[in-house]
Amino acid sequence: MLELDDKGLGVLVDAFYARVRTDPALGPIFNDAIADWPEHLEKLAAFWSSVMLTSGRYKGQPVPAHVKHKHHITPALFDRWLALWAQTTNELMVPDAAEALQDRAGRIAQSLQLAMFFRLDD
Ligand code: HEM
Repeated sequence: MLELDDKGLGVLVDAFYARVRTDPALGPIFNDAIADWPEHLEKLAAFWSSVMLTSGRYKGQPVPAHVKHKHHITPALFDRWLALWAQTTNELMVPDAAEALQDRAGRIAQSLQLAMFFRLDD
């Protein structure tokens, strides 16, 4: 079982996106949007390191990155994303880490969905 550190998060991110890419619902969106997978995986490992370990490694802007794909993304897809995240974290991470990662992803998914589906200005 993996610990909540940069090494564990790197393995988790690789395993999660390997599943995302072959998922019938999520796969096509990611495979169309992402040209450079090694770069995306690096970015997502940095993101989770910043979120869970406050490492400051991630400098991006997740909200616009998702808003620009909002015509292809639905709330049901977020449920699928979170189910796959729960499955992968439960399988790979020590239980406390899996719970913390699921809790955090659920909150971030909520705020991304608010930004994507309930904007008044476009
Ligand atoms: C980037 C899709 C949920 C975190 C992306 C990109 C896509 C995508 C297509 C690439 C954007 C681009 O460069 O064009 C989705 C879909 C989701 C989902 C379909 C659910 C249905 C989430 C959640 C999180 C997350 C729940 C966090 C907990 C990120 C981050 C990036 C990203 C950090 C990188 C943004 C950047 O470029 O700095 N996502 N995403 N995503 N996603 Fe998601």
